Amino acid sequence: MNTAHILLVDDEKRICTSLTGILKDEGYTVRAVHDGQAALAVLEEHLPDLMLLDLWMPGMDGLQVLELVKQRYPNLPVIVISGHGNIETAVKAAKLGAYDFLEKPLSLEKTLILVERALDQRRLLQENLDLRKRVERKYEMIGNSRVMQEIRERIATAAPTNGRVLIYGENGTGKELIARALHRQSLRAEKPFVEVNCAAIPQELIESELFGHEKGAFTGATSKKRGKFELAHEGTLFLDEIGDMSLATQAKVLRVLQEQKFERVGGSEVLEADFRVFAASNKNLEQEIERGNFREDLYYRLNVIPFYAPPLRDRTEDIPLLVNHFLQEFSLENGRRIKTIAQDAMEILLQYNWPGNIRELKNVIERLVIMVSSNMIRAEHIPSSILGSGRPRSGKTGLSFGAPWKPLKDAKNTFEKRYILECLKAHSGNITKTAQTLGIERTYLHKKIRLYGLEDGN
Ligand SMILES: Nc1ncnc2c1ncn2[C@@H]1O[C@H](COP(=O)(O)OP(=O)(O)OP(=O)(O)O)[C@@H](O)[C@H]1O
Ligand SMILES: [Mg+2]
Repeated sequence: MNTAHILLVDDEKRICTSLTGILKDEGYTVRAVHDGQAALAVLEEHLPDLMLLDLWMPGMDGLQVLELVKQRYPNLPVIVISGHGNIETAVKAAKLGAYDFLEKPLSLEKTLILVERALDQRRLLQENLDLRKRVERKYEMIGNSRVMQEIRERIATAAPTNGRVLIYGENGTGKELIARALHRQSLRAEKPFVEVNCAAIPQELIESELFGHEKGAFTGATSKKRGKFELAHEGTLFLDEIGDMSLATQAKVLRVLQEQKFERVGGSEVLEADFRVFAASNKNLEQEIERGNFREDLYYRLNVIPFYAPPLRDRTEDIPLLVNHFLQEFSLENGRRIKTIAQDAMEILLQYNWPGNIRELKNVIERLVIMVSSNMIRAEHIPSSILGSGRPRSGKTGLSFGAPWKPLKDAKNTFEKRYILECLKAHSGNITKTAQTLGIERTYLHKKIRLYGLEDGN
C-alpha cells in the first residue's frame, strides 16, 4: 500500500487530472494545485512526501517556487516537469536541489518509476535521520554536577582541534561517551569513528586489526583485510583500554603516530592515513610507565589533552538524573509505562558506592524496570547487594542525617533494616545467633528478614 502524499503543481488542468488519476490508482494520496502561490499555501498546511512541479506556469515561475520550497523544506523531494528539450532549465532546477526531472509529454511508466524512486530515497533519508537521533540519544551525557559541566566545556574546547586526547577513569565512568562526544563535535564528525578495544583483541591479532593484512600473510589470512588505521582515514581512531596493549605493539603504534604511515601485515606497500587519535585507559598510565608496562614516549604522544572521568561516588548529585534517565530509557525499550522511584529507594542508591560506576547503575535500573511489576520502585525492590554495601554518610548505620528529610517511621525502618543486616553479616547469616544478639525471637527475625528482603544475607 502506498500511503505517501503527493502534491502536484501544474497549470494545465488536463495534465493534473490524468496524473492524479494514475497516481491514485497506484494508491497514492494526491492533491493538485495550479500555481506556485497555491502550492506554497498547501505546504504550510501539510507537508507531503513528494512534490511534482511544473516549471512553466503563469504567475510565479516554477524555478522560483522550487527555490523557496528548497529553502523552507530542504528534505522534501521535488521532481520538476519541464518542456521537451529544455536542458538549460533542467540544469538550473538540479542546481536548486530538484530530485530529478520529467519531460513533457509525460511518459506514464517513467513518471511512476521516478515517483517511486524519489519516495524510496526519502524513506531512506528519514530512516537515517531517525537512526542518527537514536544513536545520539544512546550516547547522550547526563549529569549536571560541576565536574560534568567542566567535562562538557572541555569537550567543546578540545573537539574542533586536531589535538590527541587521553581519557582516564575507572570502569564504567563514561570514557567512551566522552570520546564519542568529542568526535561528534569535531570537524571530523561526518567521517568514521573507529574503535579498537585493545584489551578484547588477542595480542597475536591486534596488529592485523590495526594495520590490516595482505592475503596469505599468516595462516588464516585468506583474504586482504583493511586495518583500523585505514578505516579511520579522515576520521577518529579510538584506542580503548590502551593500558592493555603489549610493549611490542606500543612500539609499532608509536611509529605510526610519528609518521602517519604504515604497512599491512605481510605487505610492503606504504600506506598513509590521516586520523585523529583518542585513547582511553582505566589504568594509571604513569604508574604503568614506572612498572615498565607502558612506553613513556607513547604516553606523551597521546596525552596532549587529558580528560578525567570521575567515579560516580564523587558526583552523587548526578545519581537522581541518571536514574530517571535510565528509568525512562528502559521503560520505553521494554514497552512498559515509565516507572518512577520512591524516595527511600533513591536514598539507598545515593548511599551506595558504585564500584562499577554508571555502567553498574544502568544495569541495576534495567533489571528493576524488567523485574519490578509495579509502577513505583521502592526500597524493598533494590537488590540486597546494593543495600548491604552502602557507603555510610554519617555514622555506621549508613543513615544520612539531613535533606531529604523523611517521616520518622521511614527513618526507623531504614535504620532497623540496616542494623539487622549488619548484625546478620557479623554472624555470617546465622539466624539463631543474630536473634540472640538482637534480643528478639527467631520467628520475629525471620519476619523482618522477609519484610526487608534480606533473604540472601548480604
Ligand atoms: N553521563 C552519562 N550519562 C548517561 N549514560 C552514561 C553516562 N556515562 C556513562 N554512561 C553509560 O554507562 C555505560 C558505560 O559508559 P562507557 O562505556 O562510556 O564507560 P567507560 O568508562 O568506557 O567504561 P569501561 O571502562 O568499562 O569501558 C554506557 O552504557 C554509557 O552509555
Ligand atoms: Mg569503555
